Amino acid sequence: MSDRIRDILLNKNSPSKIPVWFMRQAGRYLPEYMTIRSQHPEFLSLVYHPQNATRVTMQPVERYNMDAAILFSDILVIPHALGYDVQFKKGEGPVLSVVDHNEKRIHPESINIQDTLSPIYETISKTRKELDDHKDLIGFCGAPWTVFCYMVQGHGKTDFPKARSLIKDNPDLAQILMDDIISSSIEYLKSQVDSGVDLLQIFDSWAGLLKDDEIALNEYIYKANQRIVSALQDYAPHIPIIGFPKGLHQEQLIDYIQIVGVQGLSIDMFVDIHWARDHLQDKVTVQGNLHPDILRDGGDPLTDQTRIICKTLSEGPFIFNLGHGIDKDTPVDHVEQAVSEIHKFKS
Ligand code: CP3
Repeated sequence: MSDRIRDILLNKNSPSKIPVWFMRQAGRYLPEYMTIRSQHPEFLSLVYHPQNATRVTMQPVERYNMDAAILFSDILVIPHALGYDVQFKKGEGPVLSVVDHNEKRIHPESINIQDTLSPIYETISKTRKELDDHKDLIGFCGAPWTVFCYMVQGHGKTDFPKARSLIKDNPDLAQILMDDIISSSIEYLKSQVDSGVDLLQIFDSWAGLLKDDEIALNEYIYKANQRIVSALQDYAPHIPIIGFPKGLHQEQLIDYIQIVGVQGLSIDMFVDIHWARDHLQDKVTVQGNLHPDILRDGGDPLTDQTRIICKTLSEGPFIFNLGHGIDKDTPVDHVEQAVSEIHKFKS
């Protein structure tokens, strides 16, 4: 059986050699990223530059021999392609123009998102050509609720109170916005598949904001993700999908898997790995869940925790990853240490 990530997801086999990639493996902690980044005053101009975006996508694979490359882009290209102003300010994170509550529609009819997104598809075909045949290229988008949070709040500095109140105060407008994000994301992911990605991940980084509201959770997390997954499964059944609903209660992960229909579940660092082994691995391939702080801090705790995760989860379908993205202060040596530990692990 193949140990390719795509095949593990499709066949649910336990790998003979544990594959690994890290969320945010390309980024500011990498000196070679900073070199290319310095040529682009705006972050998005790097995202839309196929040649440099391909270089950046390949960097972590070249440096650490990661088992997969993740497309270099961002979840906020969808609002940008819908005509919203999106800027990434140093030390501040993303800042967006916000949805006008008086509008019936959230973007002008004349907009075709593909006009903005087409350079990203070129990055995908270039990267697929450069990448070793045995390694996978991961495409992605933000989940509808997480993108909605940024579009309604305009930034990520708080826990999105405006987004949480909009779904209560004006559910009709919230639905229009969600529908627009969902249809754009489906179109975006289908084009990623056409351009050559091998699998997809849907990042719901802010799912946990709704964890104590079953009705909202059902509508804005489960059903919203399910609409994207079923459209993509109809379009490309050979392309598996990993969901990352960060911050849910453990038991809710089972509902998420069953309703959304993903082949893989990326678990955050708060999910107990023994519980994941016993309750998730019979249903999906589990991906995760080293704490990014442990990776950043390194030393024996990094080696120990990496081995514990490998030992606990490698008897079922498993892909090693972090519980969230790499911290920007992570030394590259620590990433190397973790990857070599994972690659030499034998159960
Ligand atoms: O290596 C990879 O993982 C691929 C590229 C990727 C980026 N963002 C590049 C990026 C991916 C998969 C993302 C996902 C993303 N973006 C998420 C979901 C995952 C998560 O971390 O929760 C979210 C919520 C965003 C939105 C976003 N983009 C934020 C909040 C920020 C600022 C904070 C930060 O870490 O800088 C970004 C900017 C961003 N996206 C950078 C990178 C490399 C840094 C920008 C820079 O170079 O100046």
